[in-house]
Formats: sequence, structure tokens, C-alpha cells
Amino acid sequence: MKTSVAIYPGSFDPVTNGHLDLIGRGELMFDHLIVAVLKNVEKEPLFSATERVEMLKEVTKKWDSVEVDVFEGLLVDYARRRGAGVILRGIRAISDYEYELQMALMNRKLEPRLETVFMLPGESYSYLSAKLVREIAQLGGPLAGLVPPTVEQRLRSKVS
Ligand code: PNS
Repeated sequence: MKTSVAIYPGSFDPVTNGHLDLIGRGELMFDHLIVAVLKNVEKEPLFSATERVEMLKEVTKKWDSVEVDVFEGLLVDYARRRGAGVILRGIRAISDYEYELQMALMNRKLEPRLETVFMLPGESYSYLSAKLVREIAQLGGPLAGLVPPTVEQRLRSKVS
């Protein structure tokens, strides 16, 4: 059953098959899913916000109800501007829970009307993270199955 507008926020540096799995699940659940790329991450990203948005657009184009956007500042302010009532986040393993709980409760404190919904990606992606993908790419390891082919190409040219 579809219910509302949801935002799936993140760094997406770069988008992985685990992110895509979650986007596919969210697309089935919400009327409109906004994949929102955080522009100013504290750490220096490997890909610029523009590149991260381009990659996301390429790999989500098959879903009409999925939009890719970029945001700065507080997520709750962005959600208010976009008229979204739900923040979608993925939890891969129990190790994600503490950080996600803290963020969800802080967002609830900042905007009580905004609900965080957690979904589980497919179990075959439970060990997958953008950080490990960047490391494997930088060390010349195989990326097949971890990221979409177009992202793999971008990673290879970025680190070469
Ligand atoms: O993919 P990530 O890096 O785990 O995503 C983290 C993200 C972008 C969801 C989080 O850092 C965020 O929402 N940043 C925006 C600033 C903000 O609202 N901070 C307060 C969060 S409680």
C-alpha cells in the first residue's frame, strides 16, 4: 500500500547496490520517493554532489516515482520544504542501529510530525557500504555485484 512522500537521505558516495535495493523497496511503499544527496558532508567526498546526483539519476531512471535531488542544511527543514512526512533509512545490521536511533530521535525532536521509517536491505547487501566500495576501488579490487556497472566505470576512472 502506498501512502505518502518519503525522503531517502544520504551521502551516496557513491550509490551502491544496497542503496538501490532500498530505493526499490521504498518505491513500492511510497507515492513519491525523493533520494536526497547531502551536499556538504564534513568529510571530503570522493565524488562531487553533482556527480553523485548524476549517478543516482542514471540508476533510478526506471522508476517514475523516484526523484533525485540535492540538499544542504538540516534534513528536517528540507523535508518541510518538500512536503515529506517520512524519512526512509536502511539498517543493515545491529551496528547501524545506534547511529540511526540517535539521528531518528533527534529529527523527531526537531520536527515531531516527521516519521523515520527503517527498512532492511536484502541480506546479501548487509556487509556492503560506500566506504568499503571506495576503498576496494582505490586498491584496484573487483567491484562487480557491489555497485551498478555505470558506477563501477566512474569509480575506475576516478581512481586511475
Ligand atoms: O549516508 P549517510 O552519510 O549515513 O547520511 C547521513 C545523513 C545525510 C542522513 C545525515 O548526515 C543528515 O541528515 N545530514 C543533514 C544535516 C542534519 O539534518 N543533521 C542532523 C541529523 S539528526
